[in-house]
Amino acid sequence: MNENNNSAKKSTVRSSFSGKLGYVLAVAGSAVGLGNIWRFPYLVAKYGGGIFLLVYLVLMLTFGFALIMAESALGRMTGESPIGAYESFGQSLFLKFGGRINAIIPMIIVPYYSVIGGWVFKYLAEYIRGNVAGVAGDDYFSNFISETYAPSVFFIIFVIATLFIVMAGVEKGVERASKIMMPVLIILAVIVAIYSITRPGAMEGVKYFLIPDFSKFSLMTIVAAMGQMFYSLSIAMGILVTYGSYMKKDVDMEKSTSQIEIFDTGIAILSGLMIIPAVFAFSGGSTESLKAGPSLMFITIPKIFNTMGFGRIFGIVFFLLVLFAALTSSISLMETNVSTISDATGLSRKKSTLIIFIEILVFGIPCCLGFSILDFIKPLGMDSILDFFDFISNSVMMPVAALCTCFLIVKIIGFDKITAEIKRSSKFKREKIFRFCIRYLAPLFLMIILVSSIANAFGLISM
Ligand code: TRP
Repeated sequence: MNENNNSAKKSTVRSSFSGKLGYVLAVAGSAVGLGNIWRFPYLVAKYGGGIFLLVYLVLMLTFGFALIMAESALGRMTGESPIGAYESFGQSLFLKFGGRINAIIPMIIVPYYSVIGGWVFKYLAEYIRGNVAGVAGDDYFSNFISETYAPSVFFIIFVIATLFIVMAGVEKGVERASKIMMPVLIILAVIVAIYSITRPGAMEGVKYFLIPDFSKFSLMTIVAAMGQMFYSLSIAMGILVTYGSYMKKDVDMEKSTSQIEIFDTGIAILSGLMIIPAVFAFSGGSTESLKAGPSLMFITIPKIFNTMGFGRIFGIVFFLLVLFAALTSSISLMETNVSTISDATGLSRKKSTLIIFIEILVFGIPCCLGFSILDFIKPLGMDSILDFFDFISNSVMMPVAALCTCFLIVKIIGFDKITAEIKRSSKFKREKIFRFCIRYLAPLFLMIILVSSIANAFGLISM
């Protein structure tokens, strides 16, 4: 592929992955984001609590592990981003398709990710203004997103902030800052979680979150948990192939993967402990409020802060930290998209950035308006346009991308070559799990998921 376009970029990134810590932190920075703090808790609430958590954990330790290893090894082996990595094994239609679908997914995610990022900005602004009681009102959130202009304005602010950081080349600064911000986020989350758990009635929520109720299990639990796992760990979209290509040959891939999984899941569980018990304490755990969906964080967190002392300070710090986590993720999404475009077209970084900017507006603005003037559009019966993009990327395209990666490894590269790459630096204790997942379990499950989520979307079955 066209190495020159982003060679400057690559060499700076490469040098930053000087060792294991560099790699783990970079992947963790891209993994920990709105997926953990905003998306995970609302899915847990929606899909039955503890049973979702259990399925999520099992999937992460098997599939998640196998796919992270597979993608990073593919990247390190070829030294390329996804399109190049796939094509380094030939020019067949499958290889072309496999590389491209991996590269397209981040382009679908970044617009609606930025819409949520905009909501975070809005809440930060409200806390700075001191509107602690206002944002805790029952209808505050729904009123806000159904305004015609405001959500789009905040969305654009978020996009410009991301672009500004990428263009000014200060990602390093942001990433360095996030190394301080992340620990602060964890401490703050622990405080808020303890406060939330100790509210009257909140214990029901803790039970709901931690104790699996098998009667709530359905195919949809697996579909949603799998989608969330891909999303949260940034897998099945070529990101880890690219990061793997920056990884040194002596970095222990297996250990780093475990650390990334622990870190990412730890933050997700902590967010669950902040938000789910609060739903029970403040809304009595009604099914209606448990099903609130994407708005859950924006409804429950302000209620917590409104009853705590120093609500304004907590609000400012919390949303600032969430904003940071979101920005480090959106920067990494943006980077990937810009280099995909410049590799594919040969255009300069500036022009490629402009193309991506326009693309984000084209997809993002309808997501914003989907809650106001376009709210009559319910693509495939989804709740909103934003839900639709989320579904298409996480439940349809990512399984396809992951299937391609499995197929590539099993049929084209061969296990021996991939495991040899991994064993250059790791003992690879979980090799058997890896082989079994990639060869049998993952393809079977991914097929089932794909077929059932499409059938569900078209109303052929209901899950
Ligand atoms: N994992 C990120 C989160 O939890 C979101 C995300 C998905 C992402 N794919 C990505 C971030 C690719 C960076 C790159 O919020």
